Amino acid sequence: MRIVSTWSFGLRANESAWPHVAAGRALDAVEAACAYADAAPDIDSVGFGGLPDASGRVSLDGCVMLSPGQCGSVAGLRTHLHPVTVARRVMERTPHVMLVGADADAFADREGLVQAELLSDEARAAYEKWRREGGVVDQSRDGPSRTLGFDPLRPVDRRHGDDGRLFGGATTPPPLPADEARWRHHDTIGCLALDARGTLAGGCSTSGTPFKVPGRVGDSPIIGHGLYVDPEVGAATATGTGELIMGLCGAFLVVESMRRGATPAEAVREAVTRMARTYTLQAHHQAAFLALGRDGTFAAAALRPGYRTSVRDADGARAVEPDFVALADPVG
Ligand code: GLY
Repeated sequence: MRIVSTWSFGLRANESAWPHVAAGRALDAVEAACAYADAAPDIDSVGFGGLPDASGRVSLDGCVMLSPGQCGSVAGLRTHLHPVTVARRVMERTPHVMLVGADADAFADREGLVQAELLSDEARAAYEKWRREGGVVDQSRDGPSRTLGFDPLRPVDRRHGDDGRLFGGATTPPPLPADEARWRHHDTIGCLALDARGTLAGGCSTSGTPFKVPGRVGDSPIIGHGLYVDPEVGAATATGTGELIMGLCGAFLVVESMRRGATPAEAVREAVTRMARTYTLQAHHQAAFLALGRDGTFAAAALRPGYRTSVRDADGARAVEPDFVALADPVG
């Protein structure tokens, strides 16, 4: 019995989902964890508070999966806050897997899901600053300095809910490395749960890359890219620069490695190693894979330092470092 989520904002998300895990409701658990992150205004890469696209409008993507025959997905929601909830309705109430754009919002309306404002005051201010500074339309993650006024930003964990207990048992929180303190953007929540009945489920929710080209969709809502669950093998999710993950069918790649006998740790290591080999990487690129085996073992690997996994199980809650980091350089 365990729930794991990407980044330390997952600590709070996991906690909100834990009663469902303990009650044997893995699907409710991943939906609840993602909904928590969607609603938190201080998480600026998911849901309300997510940074808008180059037109100043937020769009949300997400998916949910129990098995190859039970999955749902939405992309480009502009009026509904919880992509995983809408994706679950697609999975449970239509013969389809994926709905996109205005028709996905219209489907959510027909399902009785309440519309919501997605753009927070902080996200609007960040967008206006980006425009004032001559922001370029850049579909890559956090292009140099023109985004939020920092030098190259890449998703780096900000130790949400920072508490020494949750970061390796220290009585005081470990200090932020100097280069980490100036990075502030997180990425997708990917969440995997193995519940008390042994059911595996996964969910994934994001607002995509900041100031993206309108219409851009990344890995998160695409089954096999941002999320894959096979109840016979295990589950995997991804976070970070979607364009790097999509070229590898990342989450599927990890689960297929596990199917061939790799442990979760071996599978995620192989995936980020392949990512590092495959692309001409830029300083702002970051990605991580998180895997949960059928037996409850989990592991994560990141392209670069700065990623953490949030875990909740019978031993309590904690944020843990990845098992493997492909590139040692902290900045470039
Ligand atoms: N990983 C989220 C995205 O690239 O949209």
